[in-house]
Amino acid sequence: MNYFHKSPFLDKIKDFLNIKKNGVYIDCTFGCGGHSKEILNNLCKDGKVFSFELDPKSFFLGKNLINDNRITLINDNFINLRKYICDFNLLNKVNGIIFDLGISSYQLNDNSRGFSYLINGPLDMRINQNNGFSLKEIFLKSKKKDILNIIRKYGEDSYAKKISDKIFFYKKKNKLNNTFDLSKIIDSVIKKKNNFKNKSRIFQSFRIFINNELKFLYKGLEESFKVLSKNGRIVVISFNSLEDRIVKNFIRNKSNNNDFFLYKIPLTKNQINKFNPIKMINLGKYKPSLQDIKNNNRIRSAILRVAEKI
Ligand SMILES: C[S@@+](CC[C@H](N)C(=O)[O-])C[C@H]1O[C@@H](n2cnc3c(N)ncnc32)[C@H](O)[C@@H]1O
Repeated sequence: MNYFHKSPFLDKIKDFLNIKKNGVYIDCTFGCGGHSKEILNNLCKDGKVFSFELDPKSFFLGKNLINDNRITLINDNFINLRKYICDFNLLNKVNGIIFDLGISSYQLNDNSRGFSYLINGPLDMRINQNNGFSLKEIFLKSKKKDILNIIRKYGEDSYAKKISDKIFFYKKKNKLNNTFDLSKIIDSVIKKKNNFKNKSRIFQSFRIFINNELKFLYKGLEESFKVLSKNGRIVVISFNSLEDRIVKNFIRNKSNNNDFFLYKIPLTKNQINKFNPIKMINLGKYKPSLQDIKNNNRIRSAILRVAEKI
């Protein structure tokens, strides 16, 4: 199996996170450990990294990949990060947090997972295979309109209706059993030669749904904000417009200016509730350079956003 995963923006992470040598950092999406290792490389012996990985297989791989007493590798969802940070007495002491969303090449290339349309595998797609429903189970339980809703909502694909009809037809006939079957259904609807973008979008829509990825991202960002120190940074690398919208809105809401002078006095309860003295500033949005994409085509759709708590 190919473990090799090229971490996006690796050479710039030090600057985006503004790494302090003795700081505390969280890598919410450990994967194959590329970003965690890069953070460790920039810390002195007193620095700390807490890395989260939801997938037990990637977690065990990670245990063998990094041997460093400054890192705590945690096999849990990043939405639970505050609990761990409180246990270590580090609330409001975290200097930076990184999210590199989606799945790694290690998972994509694993033929027992069903993430890729290029490799035949089971209709599974769960990041944590010990929990939740596989894609096969979802198909078995779903009505036609449920399948349509998933592709529309999480894939935003214009062929959603035709593809969901066909998926439903083949699952009823018991002829939808693996990723190649699903891939062939998409090919039969989208008859153009280069339909890999549609295929990626449709496979991704099922993955996002199965793993509840958008809800977790929203919650993970909120939890991150609660544990960050003053001047702590959040860096998020997303790979589709749905994720990026959540990140953009999160930063926008947290950097809301609370322009109270615009309001009439006395303020309403609602206006007072909105007041939040702790805010974020948006430090920008970045895309990979042409050279980065040449080196790693997988990151062509990556968007990195950085914000700082002030
Ligand atoms: C794109 S990979 C990260 C790659 C990593 N940055 C590197 O350099 O190797 C995303 C990883 O996050 C994990 N993941 C996804 N959702 C998660 C969640 N809610 N909590 C913790 N880990 C998650 C996936 O299993 C996957 O291993």
